[in-house]
Amino acid sequence: MSKVTVMNHPLISHKLAILRHKDTKSKDFRELLNEIASLMTFDICRDLKTREVLVETPICTAKCQELDKDVIIVPILRAGLGMVEGILQLIPTAKVGHIGLYRDEETHEPCEYYAKFPTGLSEATVFVLDPMLATGGSAAAAITMIKKRGAKDIRYIGLVGAPEGVEKLHSEHPDVDIYLAALDEKLNENCYIVPGLGDCGDRLFGTK
Ligand code: PRP
Ligand code: URA
Repeated sequence: MSKVTVMNHPLISHKLAILRHKDTKSKDFRELLNEIASLMTFDICRDLKTREVLVETPICTAKCQELDKDVIIVPILRAGLGMVEGILQLIPTAKVGHIGLYRDEETHEPCEYYAKFPTGLSEATVFVLDPMLATGGSAAAAITMIKKRGAKDIRYIGLVGAPEGVEKLHSEHPDVDIYLAALDEKLNENCYIVPGLGDCGDRLFGTK
């Protein structure tokens, strides 16, 4: 069964408080989202398997460890893009796939408009990125798409989740662990997260 982890770290909480503020501008919003993604990734990767490698130091041969599997990160456009740089700073060898989904304004159902993936999904550890887990429709659809292409070892990394989204993602993909910086109270009548932070894509890219 999937595990749901709400990161409990003073630095993440502090940065998230600034990010949520309605007056925080796009430049700061982008920086904070990447910083939180980095902090979360550091902890989420704690249990990744490593394998032994021999490294020639200037002194002798050392037994060292390197990541056993490739990491592929898959941001859900647009808002997931705001987490990519922060993760690549920690895992520069990660490859990046992209999934384009938008929520229909009336039905709130996800509509697919783009998909491009690196090879090796079936052997890699795959992180699906989307800051907002609202109804869970987008995250669940994205994970279905990458499973169809062979991905087996998948983790979802989000920022703010609603209970409804966690429930949907968990029931459709019980094998996928869910990591969030905060679990909020509920959805409003427009399926926005309450208290949330508003429209993440618009705030990142200054489109409203
Ligand atoms: C937002 C957000 C998620 C989705 C979450 O994207 O970035 O992808 O909504 O909602 P859900 O859990 O109810 O599916 P949006 O559809 O607004 O597209 P955008 O990122 O291009 O603005
Ligand atoms: N998408 C967002 O950007 N924010 C929400 O609160 C819900 C969906």
